[in-house]
Amino acid sequence: MTDRREQAVAILRENRHEGYTIPSSTLYPYQWNWDSAFIAVGLAHVDEAAAKQELRTLLDAMWPNGMVPQIAFWADAEGYFPGPDEWEAGTDEVATSGITQPPMLVPAARRVYEVTSDDAFRDEMLPLLDQHLSWWVDERSFDGDTVYVRHPWATGMDDSPAWVPVLESFDPADIATNLDYARKDRKSADLSEQRPTDWDYDRYVALVRQGKALDWDESRLREVCPFLVEDVLTNSIFVRACDDLAALYAGAGDEAKADEWRRQAEHSRAGMRERLWDEELGTFVSYDRVNDRKLRVNSVAGLVSVFGEVPTNEQFGRLRENLRENFLDYDYACPSYVGPDMDYDRYWRGPAWMNVNWLLADGLRRYGAVDTADRIEEDSLELLEEEGFREYFNPETGAGRGSDRFSWSAALYLDWASDMTHE
Ligand code: SER
Repeated sequence: MTDRREQAVAILRENRHEGYTIPSSTLYPYQWNWDSAFIAVGLAHVDEAAAKQELRTLLDAMWPNGMVPQIAFWADAEGYFPGPDEWEAGTDEVATSGITQPPMLVPAARRVYEVTSDDAFRDEMLPLLDQHLSWWVDERSFDGDTVYVRHPWATGMDDSPAWVPVLESFDPADIATNLDYARKDRKSADLSEQRPTDWDYDRYVALVRQGKALDWDESRLREVCPFLVEDVLTNSIFVRACDDLAALYAGAGDEAKADEWRRQAEHSRAGMRERLWDEELGTFVSYDRVNDRKLRVNSVAGLVSVFGEVPTNEQFGRLRENLRENFLDYDYACPSYVGPDMDYDRYWRGPAWMNVNWLLADGLRRYGAVDTADRIEEDSLELLEEEGFREYFNPETGAGRGSDRFSWSAALYLDWASDMTHE
């Protein structure tokens, strides 16, 4: 364990730039939104100042309207498409992408605060986190309860089979005039097999070009963007973020604000239970607002609803059955998707991911499902011990896939390993 711990610390150090950590020097050479949140959780155990700075830097990239971008291009780097010129987005201070990612930075800020007990850090974070979550409610919700995203990259689970029907529902040529582009992510023959297909990328790029043509104007995009999805993972993290913000406010003595965000969490949970639950699959699913339909796939995203304490006790019983029958029947928990399009090696179509395992294990503990949470954490540690800090893992063989020396895998190892040391 010590060797791996030292390696994890070394990876985070080597991927660290000025005030933030890149996810991977080969594939992702800028600051990524939810990556930084998971990275901060791990850094808190080894370098409190760096953990706090990670979140500060991310919030420095927040747009004036409260959107925290998926990517902040703080420094020039080679080897990533689409880079800053493709997006033409950002603030006076920094070029960014034009989309967001799940608001994991709020649970991360609470974690960092709990580890550091730094009241000044909490008080500095509060108005910024409030501004960001308010943006979700004001700009990204049709009914004030569930929230939506407008790009598969915004969900974090880029090529989940859940998005296929939405991506099939439009012709990229109808929303973007220029569809020429060159991918930079297939850095090896192996990666070519493990990354999303060109069919997916054509649609990802068309959505980016549509957003850029409309100057990232939310109200216009709400009218014309063909991908307006209430993603179950984003919503589960959003609900937890509202609860965590409420807890931070309560700790700071602001009961009125704490109440406001507790109410928002309850309201959003109720919306999810009503619209996103799928009894037949035994999980929560995402919702396509453009075509008014559920996106019915059995993805680990639905199971992560436990992170936001979304399932009622009855729903949890059914969800746990689904988890046991369909997701734990592999050598390594937990495949990201099970079903007809499952591919053990391709990005979000089957491999196990450490961040999702972390969210799931945390949520399961909230429901008292300790044995299942333990199994997921033990499998995760075993994968990291055996294969190193890979981006994702084949759930049948345990083989490491995607990028190597991947920051959140290193960071979450430190978090899990520290729990074991404390026991
Ligand atoms: N994961 C995306 C990519 O592969 C960006 O968030 O580029």
